[in-house]
Amino acid sequence: MVPLKRRKLVPTGAVNTGTGPVRTKFPHVVLFLLERKMGTSRRAFLSQLGRRKGFQVEQVLSESVTHIISESNTREEVTAWLDFQGGGQADVLLLDISWYTDSIRAGHPVDILDRHRLQDLQGSGPEVAVFSVPSYACQRRTTLENHNTVLTDALSLLAENAELSDEDGRGVAFRRAAAVLKALPSAVMSISQLSGLPCLGEHSLRVIKDIWENGASSEVESTKVSERFKALKVLTGIFGVGAKTADRWIREGIHDLHQLQNSGQTLNRAQQAGLQHYDDINQPVTKAEACAIEEIVEKAVSSVLPGAQIILTGGFRRGKQTGHDVDFLITHPEEGREVGLMPKVVSWLEAQGFLLYQKTTRNSYLESKADGPGRPPSNMDRFERCLSIFKLPKMEKQGAKDSQNVTENCLQANQKSDEPECPEAAPDRRWRAVRVDLVVSPISQFAFALLGWTGSKLFERELRRWARYEKGMSLSSHALYDNNQRKYLRASSEEEIFAHLGLEFIPPSERNA
Ligand code: CTP
Ligand code: MN
Ligand code: MN
Repeated sequence: MVPLKRRKLVPTGAVNTGTGPVRTKFPHVVLFLLERKMGTSRRAFLSQLGRRKGFQVEQVLSESVTHIISESNTREEVTAWLDFQGGGQADVLLLDISWYTDSIRAGHPVDILDRHRLQDLQGSGPEVAVFSVPSYACQRRTTLENHNTVLTDALSLLAENAELSDEDGRGVAFRRAAAVLKALPSAVMSISQLSGLPCLGEHSLRVIKDIWENGASSEVESTKVSERFKALKVLTGIFGVGAKTADRWIREGIHDLHQLQNSGQTLNRAQQAGLQHYDDINQPVTKAEACAIEEIVEKAVSSVLPGAQIILTGGFRRGKQTGHDVDFLITHPEEGREVGLMPKVVSWLEAQGFLLYQKTTRNSYLESKADGPGRPPSNMDRFERCLSIFKLPKMEKQGAKDSQNVTENCLQANQKSDEPECPEAAPDRRWRAVRVDLVVSPISQFAFALLGWTGSKLFERELRRWARYEKGMSLSSHALYDNNQRKYLRASSEEEIFAHLGLEFIPPSERNA
């Protein structure tokens, strides 16, 4: 292709119709008809027709062209064609053939109506609007209704790969980009709609364009099939195995569970349990299972400390139908009564045979002077917490009459346990392993803990970033500290925390960033 600048320019102001120069009636309107899809002979015919009516219709594209007329082309197609030619003048009008025929009929260039402008997608109705969203995820409402799953799945996979490769910065960048697309009110119909959106970096845009133009991103596809990514996924699927451990094992030639078992690696207690219950733990937990576990935990808590309260947090509180685990927050309306609660709850659950594994960490927040004023609270919270693997009796199809009594059924099921050596292998096993997180918070910190444990992880990260950079505050799952006023801001509800942060309240179901 000859670059535009070097193209021979047809003189303007006069047109050659083959019968000698004819003065153009409309010197400020210089037309060019795109041959693409129109065809050579129709283009020649329409050009002649226009010229006879006094329109200046150019044979070749030049910088003097003000209107590009095309037929059955989308805006993208014409823009792409123009780019390929080296670009037209910046404000050239891209119009549909209907404007041209209307003008010929009228004998002059008619006003440009919406229907005359090229549509972004053929037959897609009115021109699609450019999207606009605020830049922090905590300023946006992100429901579970995602209109751009193809794009967000791709970006999430790259985020996951970055996180598994110890490249957290890149991981967050992809997560932010995916979160912006999740917040859009409809499916992206053209790349031009994305201009002006925040958090879409060069890399993410490249991935989106690749999918847009080729149906798939080569980077995503090659990551999916890469031996390293597959091994990282399999190995970190073991409860208790993080990216660092998985990476070390891979460097030692361990890529799957079989190789791990034969490697003689020493596994800690969590990893042993994780390996033993691998299939169960990697099968999503359903909402019904979460509710069954909620009943069990409720029973445990009220048995050991009447008046104590539990609330389902994490993804299920945000309305998800499945999750990788079940998260609970436990508190007591009287400050201090929650002290020592976790060991009692765990003992109760253990005595009833509900725990396959548990590890409790003590509350280190109150003890730690480092968390006092003057030092921003750390992102890691220090609540008393229990990471566990529950033994959840399989829910038989229960009739409505006894469905209120899940706990009783579970207790009975657990009591008739004559366990085989290898529990997961038993064909008629009547239970399954489920990951459960329990956290205990004093009532004075409950709102912060609830907000911090409801997620999503990106939403939480963005809340803290907003607090820090927009408000000069430090937010954790324990407290909110105002660095300027040098004081803690108290809150007894999530609404109050959003208000302290100068943010509109976003309910849990809209925190799915
Ligand atoms: N969380 C935390 N500290 C941890 C682990 C988790 O504060 N060490 C918080 C996360 O920030 C998140 C919430 O606990 O807000 C739930 O985390 P998690 O269970 O990992 O994610 P979910 O959103 O519940 O997703 P899923 O449904 O897959 O469990
Ligand atoms: Mn969870
Ligand atoms: Mn969790």
